[in-house]
Amino acid sequence: MKIMLLGAGGQLGREWQIFFKKREHNHILLPYTSAQLDITHASELTDEVRQQQPGVVINCAAYTDVDGAEEQRDLARKVNTDAVGQLGKLSAEMGFILVHYSTDYVFPGEEEDREQFPDGYAEDHPADPVNYYGQTKWEGEQAIRKTTGHHLILRISWLCGAFGSNFVKTMLRLGCQREVLQVVDDQWGSPSFTAEVVRHTWTLLKAEETGTFHSTSRGLITWYDLAEAIFVEKDIDIDVTVKAVPSEAFPTVAERPRFSKLNTQKIESVPGCTVEEWEVGLARLLYQLRK
Ligand SMILES: NC(=O)c1ccc[n+]([C@@H]2O[C@H](COP(=O)([O-])OP(=O)(O)OC[C@H]3O[C@@H](n4cnc5c(N)ncnc54)[C@H](OP(=O)(O)O)[C@@H]3O)[C@@H](O)[C@H]2O)c1
Repeated sequence: MKIMLLGAGGQLGREWQIFFKKREHNHILLPYTSAQLDITHASELTDEVRQQQPGVVINCAAYTDVDGAEEQRDLARKVNTDAVGQLGKLSAEMGFILVHYSTDYVFPGEEEDREQFPDGYAEDHPADPVNYYGQTKWEGEQAIRKTTGHHLILRISWLCGAFGSNFVKTMLRLGCQREVLQVVDDQWGSPSFTAEVVRHTWTLLKAEETGTFHSTSRGLITWYDLAEAIFVEKDIDIDVTVKAVPSEAFPTVAERPRFSKLNTQKIESVPGCTVEEWEVGLARLLYQLRK
């Protein structure tokens, strides 16, 4: 099968490239970085997809700067909504399966929801994004659903992996530079690890599943919990104190949800889609980063 990978230079895009290099040799993967194919250029995108005639298009391209999206509204909308809608139309016209990634930030993220939905928001929970990034991602999802194409939308949260920048890598870097790290302890959720997201997506594709799924780890933690767990890992030799602080200690341009746990019951009902404890995914990532 021929698979087009858009946004191939990002953290998830690079994880997909490794996956195909190591594990799946029976498929033709066509990776495109943003420089090779800008998904907001509708005619170039359309021409390339028509020329390649893929069986699957995996869209890892996104405008992911949550604070930047408040100011660069046009660009965020073009990448996260308009281009995604164009991919949906092409999927309906040409018959390829569109794989797309969305976010926990589509949900309202109210603090009270933590008590009401301790296992997280289910796929059909009403969306109500608290920031513009979340809004563009939600409208991107909807643009796909308006088309008749076959699609798989995976919502993920707190994405961490070996490539690009993410919370775990930032903590490791800052931990070597500072004696004390202040980390917020009033935003609740769970990390999605790129390797597991790729594994889930591939299992869903092979099972010919379509629709919307949540892919994240088991457990409900704060960023503070995640930071602390990094430095107590037995092979991490970094002497730093992690201090819990409220969100107000780090004012941000874009509002952040206080609770954004994704419920994973649906994906767990698909054979082969096991969901790991967050500590397992973290230990694996830290091991990978040490190699
Ligand atoms: N990171 C998270 O915590 C998180 C959480 C929930 C959901 N998600 C979603 O998960 C997906 C993958 O996220 P990620 O962390 O892997 O993102 P990432 O590392 O920021 O990568 C996004 C990629 O998209 C590319 N891109 C941006 N604009 C483009 C355009 N117009 N045309 C083509 N490519 C373009 C970027 O290229 P350049 O770098 O060259 O601009 C970058 O390589 C996204 O859909 C994101 O919304 C992420």
